[in-house]
Amino acid sequence: MTASATKKLYIKTWGCQMNVYDSNRMADILHPLGYRAVDTPDDADMVILNTCHIREKATDKVFSDLGRMRDHKNIRKAKGKKTLIAVAGCVAQAEGDVILERAPYVDMVFGPQAYHELPEMIIRATGERVINTDLGTDSKFDSLPADHAAQDGPTAFLSIQEGCDKFCTFCVVPYTRGAEYSRPAEDILNEAKRLRDRGVVEITLLGQNVNAWHGDGADGLGGLIARIADIDGIARIRYMTSHPRDMDDTLIDAHRDIRQLMPFLHLPVQSGSDEILKTMNRKHTADHYRDIIARVRKARPDIALSSDFIVGFPGETEKHFEETLQLIRDIGFTTSYSFKYSARPGTPAANMQGLIPEKVKDERVQRIQELLFAQHTAFNTACIGQTLDVLMDGYGRGESQLHGRTPYNQAIHITTDRANFGKILPVRITAATATSVSGEIVA
Ligand code: SAH
Ligand code: SF4
Ligand code: F3S
Repeated sequence: MTASATKKLYIKTWGCQMNVYDSNRMADILHPLGYRAVDTPDDADMVILNTCHIREKATDKVFSDLGRMRDHKNIRKAKGKKTLIAVAGCVAQAEGDVILERAPYVDMVFGPQAYHELPEMIIRATGERVINTDLGTDSKFDSLPADHAAQDGPTAFLSIQEGCDKFCTFCVVPYTRGAEYSRPAEDILNEAKRLRDRGVVEITLLGQNVNAWHGDGADGLGGLIARIADIDGIARIRYMTSHPRDMDDTLIDAHRDIRQLMPFLHLPVQSGSDEILKTMNRKHTADHYRDIIARVRKARPDIALSSDFIVGFPGETEKHFEETLQLIRDIGFTTSYSFKYSARPGTPAANMQGLIPEKVKDERVQRIQELLFAQHTAFNTACIGQTLDVLMDGYGRGESQLHGRTPYNQAIHITTDRANFGKILPVRITAATATSVSGEIVA
């Protein structure tokens, strides 16, 4: 490829880690066509907005960004340059027609199961506007390029499972990502080895229900993790997002037995009230969750725990909410996300009675966040004085600033030579906040 043939590609990604993986794969697909990633939309030949539909706010952001992309396209047009504008991801899947209608300057709209067809779609887009929201039955993974040409840095995501059959009553994912699908173990192992060959030392296995993975041969996710741990050079393994119903013994034992599996578990519970869990269709109780956590802690006493919570689900009384706070007090989380319930079109909860006023949701989200913030701070503060292995996986603002991750998935800032990027080094923790720690490399 000559330099003159190089085209600039700007991808903006919202939503979960699976969208980050998908954006990376789109860059890999477009790499042989001469596209190279850039950090801003200015002067990009192609812009892809990879979108998230999970809450109303996430969707709104896409439409406000689209306006900016129109201006960007017009500025380039005045200079005689063409710009391809694409909307990908879960909003594209759910509202593809609306986007095409409201944004005539958008050239392509495609969903999470169609992006492997990007090269064909680009050709078609020269003559027509393209919409591709086929959820498909054959796997896009079979058509993705083997090479991770756009991979950069020591950490990588690897999607092993996609889609969801659980149909929690609040959630759009089963509609935007389609039915649950597990990739074959061999494909995953080969992809892990190729990432290792590109310098990756930490792999995060991804899935909407990653622990529902049931590929051939291996013994569920725990068995798969054991096989990945056997790959030379992979020093760290993580996984997300797991569902309480799929937390089996092999996976729990893996936390005890597999050194490379990091002591961190993101296991969303959403609510601590059995009545609300029932109307959410989560199919487990608060005590079932407590019991799983007890078993995980028995296997790996120092494990760091994280969860998601939805506040103000239809019908949530003060008593139900208090039960959620109690579950948080009982367990203790090191990081967590809490969201105000957002009614999503097409989901069963959107038609439920007992809507919670915005003011009450605001007040509850503040209370839950205060409690979680105190727990996060306490955990990080308790690490002061400890020496933890840190993977240096990012550059900070200053000349001698690096970012990293501890085994417990804490973000860490370190002043050190940039030549340490990509290494795993022992760091003594010297300070902490609710969201990060800092420290010094132990000589
Ligand atoms: N598969 C994961 C979650 C995927 S969505 C699981 O089962 O836990 C990520 C998080 O977004 C969810 O855990 C939930 O807390 C939040 N979320 C999903 N739908 C939402 C809605 N309608 N309103 C508010 N938060 C929501
Ligand atoms: Fe959504 Fe529930 Fe599936 Fe998670 S398990 S993706 S919350 S439907
Ligand atoms: Fe959002 Fe789709 Fe992920 S809705 S959270 S980008 S699966």
